[in-house]
Amino acid sequence: MRYRLEILVAGRSQQELAPLQQLLHQQGDVNISVRHIVNGHSDPLHNVHPLPDALVLVASENWEAELAALTERPATQRPPLLLIGYKGNENLIRAAMRAGARDFFTPPIAEAEIAQFLQQLMRDKLAECARRTAHLTAVINAKGGSGASMIAANVAHILATGSEHRTALMDMDVQFGALPLYFNLPPRNGLVRALEQVESLDTVALEGYVQPHRSGVDLLASAPDELVSVADVPESRVELLLQVMSQAYDDVVVDLPRWIGGSTAAVLEHADRILLVLEQSVAHLRDAKRLMSILRQEIHVGAARITVVVNRYGKGNAVELSDIRDALPDHEIVTLSNDFRRVSESINIGTPLPELAHKAPVTRDLVKLAGQLREDTQHSRKKTGGWSLFGWGRPS
Ligand SMILES: Nc1ncnc2c1ncn2[C@@H]1O[C@H](COP(=O)(O)OP(=O)(O)OP(=O)(O)O)[C@@H](O)[C@H]1O
Ligand SMILES: [Mg+2]
Repeated sequence: MRYRLEILVAGRSQQELAPLQQLLHQQGDVNISVRHIVNGHSDPLHNVHPLPDALVLVASENWEAELAALTERPATQRPPLLLIGYKGNENLIRAAMRAGARDFFTPPIAEAEIAQFLQQLMRDKLAECARRTAHLTAVINAKGGSGASMIAANVAHILATGSEHRTALMDMDVQFGALPLYFNLPPRNGLVRALEQVESLDTVALEGYVQPHRSGVDLLASAPDELVSVADVPESRVELLLQVMSQAYDDVVVDLPRWIGGSTAAVLEHADRILLVLEQSVAHLRDAKRLMSILRQEIHVGAARITVVVNRYGKGNAVELSDIRDALPDHEIVTLSNDFRRVSESINIGTPLPELAHKAPVTRDLVKLAGQLREDTQHSRKKTGGWSLFGWGRPS
């Protein structure tokens, strides 16, 4: 993989900015933009979108305000800083450290110094990409009430308990979501709150919005306590949230409502695996075919990323497995046993199936399904060396 570093050089003195820009240019694989700070905002990153990989700031007589503005930014909104200034000013060095400066150079800057800074930046960038990149599973019903929430909740529970994987469960059904109750947790709307604050959200701040369950699942919930619809949620906010979650967790499971639009399409686009849930009836099969064609043709999801889950499976039902295979070819099909008593009890008392009935056939089926997702994760990590970031840049 080749990566071009984006460097922003900022300062108040044109005379100092020009040679610095030239020096950086000589280093090859870097894109350099220059910001000549005149008056107005002292934050060198004000209105800079997207953020560069590093900020090279030439300290001016206004350095206190400039560094204070950088210090106030949340960690995720503050790229690595290289400060150019004159030695001997202890206050400047202290303020630079508070603003997270990585290095401090005094002019004239030697070429070797700047080359080393860029090499380190590149190494860190590559390491960051390889570090933690969650596997994203999206669960969606072909027809309301097919069991998507039950599956999302139990699969997340199994993923969290069966390994060291940090697992999150996100309830995108902001209008009718009830996942906290599946875990006997109080209804809370952490998801909408996190989306409101997403611009300043980092992995530490995210902890304030999730509800931890004893199994290890962190629930980012929806509670139908306010008039928010999933259609009101901007897609760009969901993308940002997914990026933070991908850094914080190994596995993220999303329970999607049966509505396809900007915000839900964003999840589906980035999902490593989509579980499309249906039951064995003609109406379910018809809706599943329709949903499949939306996923394939409109969202351009490749067939290999979609698993068809036949819930409440039974032999001799009106629609057989062979009918489903014929109607939805090219997709892996898995079945989950029908067990109304245990599933209802599990939801009613808020105890996931592995805790309530770990030997029941339906639980075993769910364990098998979660096992396939775990294999997915290992497979994609091996193939990409960890470079997944929810499929950003991955072919469909
Ligand atoms: N494998 C199963 N065996 C028996 N009953 C099941 C099974 N899975 C789900 N159910 C029943 O279906 C009901 C709905 O499932 P679930 O709670 O997952 O809602 P949902 O499909 O997400 O619904 P919605 O479309 O409203 O979000 C459950 O209350 C349960 O009674
Ligand atoms: Mg549901």
